[in-house]
Amino acid sequence: MSAGEKLYEGKAKTLFKGEEPGTIIQYFKDDATAFNNVKKGTISGKGIINNKITELVMHRLETIGIPTHFIERISDREQLVEEAEIIPLEVIIRNIAAGSMSKKFGVEEGIRLPFPVLEYSLKNDDLGDPLIAENHIIALGFAEEEELLEIEEMAYQINDYLRGMFAGIGLELVDFKLEFGRLKIEEDEGEEGYFIVLADEFSPDNCRLWDMETGEKMDKDRFRRDLGGEVEAYQEVALRLGISLETEDK
Ligand code: TMP
Repeated sequence: MSAGEKLYEGKAKTLFKGEEPGTIIQYFKDDATAFNNVKKGTISGKGIINNKITELVMHRLETIGIPTHFIERISDREQLVEEAEIIPLEVIIRNIAAGSMSKKFGVEEGIRLPFPVLEYSLKNDDLGDPLIAENHIIALGFAEEEELLEIEEMAYQINDYLRGMFAGIGLELVDFKLEFGRLKIEEDEGEEGYFIVLADEFSPDNCRLWDMETGEKMDKDRFRRDLGGEVEAYQEVALRLGISLETEDK
């Protein structure tokens, strides 16, 4: 399938119009950025791996009843998705303290939290994706209270499922970021309604995965922290998930 008009060039993906109205093609790049674009580089083959990991995760989440925007993977680097209106929030769940949580609150990385902690950041690069409270989100109209309730329920369900899935392949799901969107549905008598779907991607770019035996980081922190071995780490996650790394293109 050939991609249509370019809609948006993101840091790790480019979005094109799909052939069918209301669809989008997500093209996964090898580009990697950190610290809001301050650090730039590439992780060779990352786009192919993240496309395939996202496909697997979205499929599995659909089987447990999470609605997603995912339709199908159409090539090594492209997947077809429904065009949802993205809610400008990064929905983060943390099982273990790490990254910005450790930095912000001065707690050691690796401390197991007594319950999964959900937090929101406003998706706004110019502002550096600031942490935002639920009251701010509702008062400023970024999302409605009912939407947040739905998002939270889905996010915790996703956490329960994915923690188990990764534990099954020897990886600890430390934390991750999700994005949600509003997907339009035609209701009776032509009235329009919408429902909330999981959107964007799920890959080692937006989660932390620690090897349960060695404690080794198997995610984008290898790039963020100049640890090296990022290509191998992404490949290892894919292989443990049973994903074939045979490629059609580069
Ligand atoms: P943080 O500890 O840097 O706040 O990151 C929490 C999780 O969110 C981590 O799994 C990485 C992911 N993340 C993104 O997907 N995009 C981002 O821009 C940032 C800062 C974090």
